[in-house]
Formats: sequence, structure tokens, C-alpha cells
Amino acid sequence: MKVLITGGAGFIGSHTADLLSQKGYSVKILDNLSPPVHDGEWPDYVKREGYELVRGDVTNKKDLTKVLDSVDYVLHLAAYQDQMPNFSKFFTTNTVSTALIFETILENKFPVKKIVYASSQFVYGDGIYKSEDGKEFFPELRTEEQFKNKMWDIIDSGGRRAKFISFKEEQKINPINSYGLSKMASEVMGLRLGKTYGIPFSILRYSIVQGARQSPRNIYSGALRIFVTQALAGKTITVMEDGNQLRDFVNVENVAEANVLMIEDSKTDFEIYNVGGGKSYKVKDFAEIVKRITKSDSDILIDGRYRRTDTRNAVSDISKLENLGWNPSNSPEKSVNDYVNWIKSSKFDIEEIVKNIERGHKELV
Ligand SMILES: NC(=O)c1ccc[n+]([C@@H]2O[C@H](COP(=O)([O-])OP(=O)(O)OC[C@H]3O[C@@H](n4cnc5c(N)ncnc54)[C@H](O)[C@@H]3O)[C@@H](O)[C@H]2O)c1
Repeated sequence: MKVLITGGAGFIGSHTADLLSQKGYSVKILDNLSPPVHDGEWPDYVKREGYELVRGDVTNKKDLTKVLDSVDYVLHLAAYQDQMPNFSKFFTTNTVSTALIFETILENKFPVKKIVYASSQFVYGDGIYKSEDGKEFFPELRTEEQFKNKMWDIIDSGGRRAKFISFKEEQKINPINSYGLSKMASEVMGLRLGKTYGIPFSILRYSIVQGARQSPRNIYSGALRIFVTQALAGKTITVMEDGNQLRDFVNVENVAEANVLMIEDSKTDFEIYNVGGGKSYKVKDFAEIVKRITKSDSDILIDGRYRRTDTRNAVSDISKLENLGWNPSNSPEKSVNDYVNWIKSSKFDIEEIVKNIERGHKELV
């Protein structure tokens, strides 16, 4: 069986390739090796494995026609994931690519058995909150005034603190940025086209994925990248808001297992699954984990910096995927450890990365 992984030179794609290969699948990778994650070269960890490597773009139909020929499964992982206001690029890379994959398969009658789509917890936006009187509501983005007054929590219409409810697959999704919107559009389109044309489609909504090979040049990589590089450079570890915001973290090897499960279990056809760590952490507690594992003397600074489009809490309920026998067996401690060892063994300029992070932070305060 041959599996095409778009974006397979990246973090999640390369771990998935390794797992597929261990299980006896042939792996083909389509990747444009674009910056900031790559510098135009195939990383060693995919080069040495003997995968079929094709340099090309998921937004280019000719490239897709080349790679979709003679594959059984497609894992569509390539994506644009920045925080820039170039809104259209999210849709071109993340959504139009999904349409093009269907178009190419149908036009050429390629016998693809299934498409698996890498979506994100970001489709939920801020999710659902419950007010003190038990009413559920979808909060709007917090206002500048709220942030300036350090009112970090989501409040109900009566001005009281509301209770966060973990994300469930069946709830209404409410993305708050172009990245989430582009993923939502792909989800809806993939399910529709898949059903109409008889190509099974599965959606995985990953939480924050962590582990080795996550490029520290990727600004999307979030707290792990920031805390670890600051700790390794001996700089202050900077935590946003009041540090009490909740997140869940899932290890990349467990994510690779979820990807493969979508191929191997036909019960997953046309289904959506959250892929998370199953446990919520306050971001300030996660900073402590990083400090401990890196054996750092750095201070942890919580000084109220913020990003207006950040969600206050983001934690996924993973019971649906667990019911299929999957479980997030690896802890965030293992992910941090793997990431730290990998960063130390590679040639990244940590000082430069920290400087970039600090430059970004100055713009936020
Ligand atoms: N890492 C996370 O925490 C996380 C969370 C939720 C969802 N996701 C999703 O998982 C998928 C994989 O993410 P990742 O963390 O491995 O990211 P990554 O940046 O490490 O990998 C993405 C890969 O896609 C390639 N790519 C980008 N644009 C392309 C294009 N136009 N054509 C061909 N290749 C292209 C990149 O070169 C890169 O190798 C993405 O779809 C992402 O949105 C990731």
C-alpha cells in the first residue's frame, strides 16, 4: 500500500512517514520545502529513509497529478500556518489545495481509497462557555479594553466569569482567524465532495502537537518553542496573560498513530476526531515543566503581555478517538525532552530565534 503525505517533510508528516514505513507501507512525500520551516533542502530525517520525495506545491495541479498517480491513501498535511494578515494565502494553501486534490483524483480516475485531512483545534475558536445561570454561549473575541484592564477570563452578559467547556467534535465550530477558517472550509468541502464522489474522508483536529523536529523557526509553534529557546539561551521565560489559560498538548508520535488509524479503520470514514493530550495544563505550569527539564535558572515572567486573537482556553475532549483504542500515551514531559534534545543536536541559532521572539513580543506589549 502506498501513502502520499503532503507536507511530509514537516514535523507531523515526517513522524507519520516513519510510522507508516515501520508498518510496511510505501511512503511518497510532496513538499515545497518552503521557508521558514525549510531552507529549500530535504531534511536529513526524510532523506535517509528512502521515501519517494517529490518537490512540489499542493496548490499546483501539475504537481498533484504527478504524485496522486498510483497512491492508495492521501494524508493532506501541507499547510500555511502563520499569524500574518495575508488572509488569502491561508485559503489558497489550506483550502484550495483540498479542492485540487479531489479535482485531480476525479479527472484522472486515480484509485485513491481515502483522504485524511489534518485540521486543527483552532476551528473551535474560543468554543463554548457556560454562564453562572447555566446558559451556554459562544464568546466574542475579548476586547482591547478587557485586555488593558487585565480581565483575561471570558465573562458572561452579566459580567461574571464564565466556565469553559472542553471542545467536542459535534459542537458548532467558530474559528476566529484565517487559519481556522481555512481549515473549517476544507473540512466541510472534503466531507461533501467525499460523500458525493465516494472517496472516504476523515478529519483530525489536532491540539497543540509537540516533539522533536518541530521547527523553532515556525512562529506557529507556540509556547514550547518560546519557553525552550528562552530557557536554553539563559533568558527570562515569558508567559502571556496571567498564565492561567488552559491548553492541552499531544505528543507527535501519538498523532502519527492517529493518522495511521484513519487509514486502517474504516469506521473512521467521514468522521471527525479530536487528537489531544487528554489533560489540561495552565500555561504557567507548562513553563515550569520546561524550566525543570532544561534545568534552567531562568525566571518565569508573567507580565500581562497578550495577543488579541489568542483563545483564552483551548482543551479538547478526546473520548471519541479513545473509544477506537487510541490513547495519548506520551506525556508533555517526554515531548519537551525530545524537543530539547533535538534542538541541541541541530544547528539552529538559538540566540537569533530568541531575539526574533523578543522582537515579536515588543510589538505585542
Ligand atoms: N503542529 C501543530 O501543533 C498542529 C496543530 C494543529 C494542526 N496542525 C496541522 O498539521 C499539519 C502539519 O503541521 P506541522 O506541525 O507538521 O507543520 P510543518 O510546518 O512542520 O509541516 C508542514 C509542511 O508542509 C509543507 N508545505 C507548506 N506549504 C506547502 C505547499 N504549498 N505545498 C507543499 N508543501 C507545503 C512545509 O514545507 C512543511 O514541510 C498542518 O496541516 C497543520 O495545520 C498542526
